[in-house]
This record gives sequence, structure tokens and C-alpha cells, in this order.
Amino acid sequence: MEVKVITADITSVKADAIVVNLFEGVKHPGGATGAVDKALDGAISKLTEQGEVKGKLGEISIIHTLGKIPARIAAVAGLGKQSEFTPDRIRSITAEFCRHLRRLNCGTIATIIHGAGVGGIQPEAASQAITEGSLLGLYRFQKHITKKPENQDIEGIIIVEREVDKLPSLKQGCKKGKIIAEATNWARDLINEPSNYMTPSDMAKVAEKLSKTHGLSLTIMDREQMKKEGMGALLGVAQGSLQPPKLIVLSYKGDKTSSNILGFVGKGITFDSGGLSIKTSDGMIEMKSDMAGAASVIAALGAIAQLKPKINVTAVVPATENLPGGNALKPGDILKAMNGKTIEVVNTDAEGRLILADALSYAVKQGLSPLVDLATLTGACRIALGDTYSGILGNSHELIERLIKAGADAGERLWQMPMHEDYKELNKSEVADIKNSGGRWAGTITAAHFLAEFVGDTPWVHIDIAGTSFRDKERGYLVKGATGVGVRTLINLALALAK
Ligand code: BES
Ligand code: MN
Ligand code: ZN
Repeated sequence: MEVKVITADITSVKADAIVVNLFEGVKHPGGATGAVDKALDGAISKLTEQGEVKGKLGEISIIHTLGKIPARIAAVAGLGKQSEFTPDRIRSITAEFCRHLRRLNCGTIATIIHGAGVGGIQPEAASQAITEGSLLGLYRFQKHITKKPENQDIEGIIIVEREVDKLPSLKQGCKKGKIIAEATNWARDLINEPSNYMTPSDMAKVAEKLSKTHGLSLTIMDREQMKKEGMGALLGVAQGSLQPPKLIVLSYKGDKTSSNILGFVGKGITFDSGGLSIKTSDGMIEMKSDMAGAASVIAALGAIAQLKPKINVTAVVPATENLPGGNALKPGDILKAMNGKTIEVVNTDAEGRLILADALSYAVKQGLSPLVDLATLTGACRIALGDTYSGILGNSHELIERLIKAGADAGERLWQMPMHEDYKELNKSEVADIKNSGGRWAGTITAAHFLAEFVGDTPWVHIDIAGTSFRDKERGYLVKGATGVGVRTLINLALALAK
């Protein structure tokens, strides 16, 4: 799908639908909405007077133009209360009207720039939000459905502005939004792909393709190299599966004058059966998405390579299946991680922290700092925060604050959980340095404390996306299935740190 910006009068644009808007409570629309109202002989103001069109958030009113203007449909999108308006609302509203108009068989949609007028949002930010909202909201994963969808994909979104001098900043916002949204959708594709199409080797292949497209450097480590590095925890998880594990390392070098490298680490369990501590069938069904952290950090790197901030970033992705094969890890087994620490495996379903132990140790050894890891780590996080907030924990208050801000700008919400040291004793083992599960209480926090053992003094933040990475219902620009959460937060962090 193409998204472009043009200068024109919205009433004269040739598209299947044009979209204007209304804040809640406005009876007599001005600006572009007013112009369309006039061209339609007062249809919109009549509907507001009759109380049919209210401008409420999420309201979409369809007016058939019957030849009064070139577009077949004029849609009025409700923006809600003006005092509560945000760029994230633009994303959601745009996603909603785009899907609505796709259901009405529109192939092209022209829209005014919601929020840039009385909404008070900078034109560039508004245009970026519209671009992101449309691309993210129209995303669907239909690769494996042989029947054509009832409604075709939308071919084009046209962002329309009357004033020529606003064009450069609108184009800039559109370009940025496109890179960011396409990276998110790229991650969604990987996550939605079932595990028989997305093995660790498949992940390595797509990472290689991405590295070639965007000029990133790439290293892929296999089992032998992992052995040499002493990655006993990652190898331990991998030994239950016939699929060979991969450690994928992707690097972007945007600042040749500096030796600092920002590090991203993403959990890449391409399928989590739980291992011998096997999950129930219901608990297993979504577990193709247990590599969402991995997909998102790789996707973020692809976008960063296109946005070209002055910063160095490396992503480290441990990828393996967690299966109960004949050689699988058994409860009670003890593993040695790359940093020398020994781990008692009390539950083979707490495999994420095992593979991250080695990936984080490796990242520290490579000198990456600060570190941010993204992982579908604990069911406890979903219980605590649902699908609205991801959990954030770490050893650096400053970095946590930066990430919360980067997330807020992207519409990705992060809620900090307390890493009080009293929780640490839950991870104590009688037979090894640490055990891989602290039990049911405070599961997200004990998991983070476990990870902290492998980062040393490096400033580090852990984001638990178990609740936010895969959805069972759509909401705004988040569709069913994979959300690609984290991609946009990490991109924003890299852009902010580069400033
Ligand atoms: N991948 C799961 C966490 C998860 C659960 C992600 C639900 C998305 C939705 C993780 O590997 C896991 O199984 N964690 C266990 C840890 C426990 C055994 C300490 C959990 O949360 O039950
Ligand atoms: Mn698990
Ligand atoms: Zn898992």
C-alpha cells in the first residue's frame, strides 16, 4: 500500500472516500470539514444539528456524496474531546476509519491531516501518526489463506493539505511513519508465522535478508560456536529440539567517531511447549509468538538503518525451540552460563531467562552498553498488566525513564515494577548459584532479578511483553495476533540517544 502527501482541496480529490473530522460538541464545522460540508449542501452540519454526528471518539459517519464531489463517500471521523487529543489518538482513529472504509470496498482513501489544525499537533507529527495508523491498522496476516479476502487491500492513502508550504514537513513525517510502521508490520509477519515456518534457521535467514537490504553487519553463531563461548544455558534449552539453535547478531554503525554501542537483546523462542514441564494445550496455542522480542529488536534495527541516527546499535538474538525431545533438559538439571554462573533448572518452562542469561552475558562481553532486552518472559506480567501495559524493570533509573518516554511517544505503554532486593531470595538455589524460577509470587520481578545476574554493572532495562505482544482482539491500530510491540519504543530510544 502506498501512502503519499499531496496539496489539493479535499473536496476535489479523486478517491473512493475522503475523510474529514469533527471534535466532540462542534456544531458548525470549519476548515476542511466545513468546505466539504458546503460542497455537500450542508449535509454534515444538518447531521450535527440532528444529533446524529456527535464527534465522539471512534465515531465514523458515512455520507454518500451521490456525485456532488468526485469521492463516492465522505466520512466524518469523531476526534473526541479537543482537550484530550493526542498523536496516539490520530493513529487509532486513522486505523479505525481505514478498516471501516476497507469493509465498504474503498480502494483509495484521501484524508485531511487530523489534529494539525485546532488540534494543535505539529504537522510533521500528525502526518507521521496518520501514516502509522493506516499502515498498522490495515495490517492483516493472510499468507496461508488460499481464498481471497472479501474486501481487497487498500491501494493508497492520500494525505491532503491545502497549503503548499506545509508540504516538506508533512512529507518528512510520512516518510518516517512509513519506515516505522513497515518495520512493525515486518515484525508482526515473523511473529504471526507459525513455528513450522519460523524455526531458528528461518529467523537467521530473514535476519540475513534484512541485513543485506539495509546494509547491517551480521554474525550468526551455530551450536559449535556457542559451545566454544560456554553458552551452556542456551544450549541446554536447545537440546530438547531437533532444530539447531542460532545466535543472531546484527549491527548498525551510525557513529564512526564513537566506540559506544547501544545493545538490544530479544528473546527468540520460536516455539515454547514448556519442555518437560510441559504447558497445557490452551497455554501452548499462542507459543509461536514467543519470539516476539527477537522479531521486534531485529525489526527495530532495520528501521534504524533507514532513519540513520548518529549512534551505534547492536541486536543480539538467541533463537531456539523449547521442546521435550529425548535429550531435553530435565527438572533438577544444572547448567553453566557463559558468565560462569551455575543455574538449577527447576522448571523447564522458565526457558526464556536461560537463553537470555547467555545472550546478555555475550552482549556484556561485547561491550554493549546500555542494554535493553525485550522478552515474552512471564505469564505473571500478563496477569498483572493485561494487554495494555508492558512491564519494565532494570538497574538504571535513568534508562527506565528514557524508555518510558520513548514508549509514550510511540503509544507503547510501560509500567515499572519494583526490583526490591528482598525478592532476590526467591531465586536462591541449594545446589547451584541460582535457580531458574522463583515460584508463583512476583513472577515478573523474580524473572528480572534472574536476568540481572547476567548483566553485571552494565546499565540495563528489561521489558516484559508477554501480555502485550499478541492480542485476541483488535483495538485501534493494534490488530488481532502479533502487535509488534517494542519496535517503535526501541526506534525512539535510539533516535533520542543519538540527539
Ligand atoms: N513464554 C512464556 C511466558 C508467556 C506466557 C508469554 C503467556 C506469553 C503468554 C514463558 O517462557 C513461561 O513459560 N514462563 C513461565 C515461567 C514460570 C515457569 C516460572 C510462566 O510464566 O508460567
Ligand atoms: Mn516457557
Ligand atoms: Zn517462553
